[in-house]
Amino acid sequence: MSRFYVTTPIYYVNAEPHLGHAYTTIVGDALTRWSRLMGNEVKYLTGTDEHGLKIQQAAQAAGQTPQEFTDEIAPKFAHAWERLNIANDDFIRTTEPRHKAAVVELLQRCYDAGDIELGVYSGKYCVACEEYYTDEELLPGDLCPIHKKLVDTYEEENYFFRLSRFQDRLLDWYAAHPGAIKPDHRANEALGLIRGGLRDFSVSRTSLDWGIPLPWDPKHVTYVWFDALTNYLSATGFGDNEQTYTDWWPVDYHLIGKDIIRHHCVYWPAMLMSAGVELPKGWGVGGWLLVDGEKMAKSGGNAVNPLELIDTVGVDGFRYYVLAETPYGTDGDFSYEGLVAKYNSDLANNFGNLAARVATVVAKKCGGIGPAPRADSPLAAAASAAFEGAQRGWNDVAPSKALDATWSLIRATNAYLETNEPWKTEPGPEVDAVMGDALEALRIVSVLAFPAVPQTAQTVWERIGFTSNIADQRLPDSAAWGGYPGGLTVTKGDSLFPRIT
Ligand code: ME8
Ligand code: MG
Repeated sequence: MSRFYVTTPIYYVNAEPHLGHAYTTIVGDALTRWSRLMGNEVKYLTGTDEHGLKIQQAAQAAGQTPQEFTDEIAPKFAHAWERLNIANDDFIRTTEPRHKAAVVELLQRCYDAGDIELGVYSGKYCVACEEYYTDEELLPGDLCPIHKKLVDTYEEENYFFRLSRFQDRLLDWYAAHPGAIKPDHRANEALGLIRGGLRDFSVSRTSLDWGIPLPWDPKHVTYVWFDALTNYLSATGFGDNEQTYTDWWPVDYHLIGKDIIRHHCVYWPAMLMSAGVELPKGWGVGGWLLVDGEKMAKSGGNAVNPLELIDTVGVDGFRYYVLAETPYGTDGDFSYEGLVAKYNSDLANNFGNLAARVATVVAKKCGGIGPAPRADSPLAAAASAAFEGAQRGWNDVAPSKALDATWSLIRATNAYLETNEPWKTEPGPEVDAVMGDALEALRIVSVLAFPAVPQTAQTVWERIGFTSNIADQRLPDSAAWGGYPGGLTVTKGDSLFPRIT
């Protein structure tokens, strides 16, 4: 058994969770559910980013202290993830003592290594990004390239992390670890940033107090990105519990959106190198979900609340859509029409229809008892191809490919039924053989689809006669042809995915 540690970004609590946050969190949930099916011990971490100017300002606007404000919003993220059936193993808040301890440890190590030094900073700052920009990076009129808002000019005494010293070491490391950042075109983006030259970045602020004081100079608080990135270590016990830290670090995948490549693929590995901490094994970089061609964001006023969408398509309908519709790494256009179209074609017409027709024919032609499959079924090859494709897809952080492979078995089974037309055949060995094959395919589909649509998978599992928890299945064994024992009671139940018109 091996360990598999996956993280999401910790989301800013200046606003409530939206579809963009749900997107990355669902990808991580599916990836880690797959890993648990593969028999790994998994740690799936998400959480909230609660310090810094952006949060301090949002709290002020709400007439609350930052602590009151974050205490109110952080649980909304935890609640949204519950509603979306996210099986995270931990939820970290940067206002927790365990996190502060890790930040202090990491800062001190970088300081002791001589990579943090005092200087004066003057520059143009986007509060929404919590990031300084150069004139070349800004849009005309000093607008932030991401938020299209006017930046502020700040000048203050800051401690700097000497990122400029790390260019060669970072390039060498990435050269020695090809494929660490997935997909490739996002890796090229990160390498481009490093090759383009690295500016030292400031790791402290004196102009605000909502943050973690520097251990050696407490009139400064830690820059929110240095603070936030460290969460991935805090949750392993870094700086506190050496055993759990070495059990879980290095992380297998940091899942992030393309907006925060610089922080995760440039700043973070340099900070770790400085501190003598092993680098992450991988990064999975997603594109943006766009609404009318714009990044969905609170500041853009076009945020879609995922919890409203699940009223229409169900939790699994929503999860499936975000996983299957857009190849991970690429921007996707979100539309309600697209959501409904995907739901109707892949879930109502394919998966739901297969489950319903299998149960109907078994009721009519097999007395409601599922027959056993044939060892030499024509569907066996489709089943093994589906498993291999799904495995490849999940291993590559490519959920849309994994699900396309999984759905290929659904399509093959529907086609098999249409060719054999068991509903037109008299009860007997011929019908039994066909229905045994279809039930076995449906069993395998349930296991392979579980990471994306966990509730539906469990329901189908029970309808074809199992009483166990499908999460306890183990791959690859559970995908091997011939596991359906026959003799189980098959029930039809309500439509899994009623068509939306
Ligand atoms: O950046 N499409 O937090 P954040 C797809 N606190 N993904 C989206 C998205 C969209 N339209 N909008 C947001 C921060 N995301 C920092 C992170 S980590 C140490 C600190 C997702 O609340 C995507 O994963 O702005 C993106 O990277 C993340 O939310 C940013 O969330
Ligand atoms: Mg953001």
